[in-house]
Amino acid sequence: MPESRFVEVSREEPIAVLTLNRPEVLNALSFDLMAELAGRLEELDADPAIGAAVLTGKGRAFAAGADIGEMSRLGTPDLLERQPFAVWRRLDRIRMPLIAAVNGYALGGGLELAMACDLILAAESAQLGQPEIQLGIIPGAGGTQRLPRRIGRYRAGEWILTGARYSAREALEAGLVNRLVPDDQLLEAARELARTIASRPRQAVRAAKEALRAAEELPLEEGLRLEQHLFQALFATADQREGMQAFLEKRAPRFTGR
Ligand code: CAA
Repeated sequence: MPESRFVEVSREEPIAVLTLNRPEVLNALSFDLMAELAGRLEELDADPAIGAAVLTGKGRAFAAGADIGEMSRLGTPDLLERQPFAVWRRLDRIRMPLIAAVNGYALGGGLELAMACDLILAAESAQLGQPEIQLGIIPGAGGTQRLPRRIGRYRAGEWILTGARYSAREALEAGLVNRLVPDDQLLEAARELARTIASRPRQAVRAAKEALRAAEELPLEEGLRLEQHLFQALFATADQREGMQAFLEKRAPRFTGR
């Protein structure tokens, strides 16, 4: 990947912190930024030294949505031909857990990006919402599908149909974020959570992420079947043997990620 332009990556093994870096436009998610973000995440995901990543934004926003200037120049033929939002699907294939550290605004695509992560910590002053309706469009990167699954159809309906902004506390009450953190402690709290997850057996963490994501998508019977397959597969890992042996020998486990 060429040098970073819009996404700063800090490798802090066993975790990485990715910071969206277009603060002058509140980290508006241009197509180039999204391509860079997907590329960086894929590189880190393939790196055995990295077990989880934190995603945050520089300045006053996590991200204030897709880049409206860029979008305003598109017509339906461009969208059909170039599929500029297809890059978002690459985020769904990242196998390591992603933690969104939501500082400031997480609006439109910004909230959709947070929802593409596995866990969400929010700064107390964060503001979240899906304001697309006020632009004459609807959420286009998962909002109409993920928000009702996370906070319920009626509540999501109000968020999406009014386009209003909600406080971090309202988001917490709706079950959309894991917890609130004082603004100046947000990043450290997210790092700590990422480090804890990265210290767990790698293959079990990936299997758990896959199963949790499937819980949002699959009928129960299929989800239970997937869980059994993943559960059985983990009995072929060295970390399963080590984890159970260490418990029986009353010692700390030494996981290798295999
Ligand atoms: N796209 C492009 N530029 C943006 C932007 C966006 N989404 N959000 C903010 N900016 C730019 C502003 O144009 C402004 O640039 P200039 O200094 O050059 O004028 C700069 O960032 C600072 O923004 P404001 O002056 O507006 O700051 P504010 O504090 O007064 O307001 C805000 C902050 C309420 C977040 C406001 O910027 C805002 O409403 N932004 C747009 C939010 C939005 O509608 N997001 C949805 C986008 S559509 C989408 O995301 C589709 C999808 O599903 C993928």
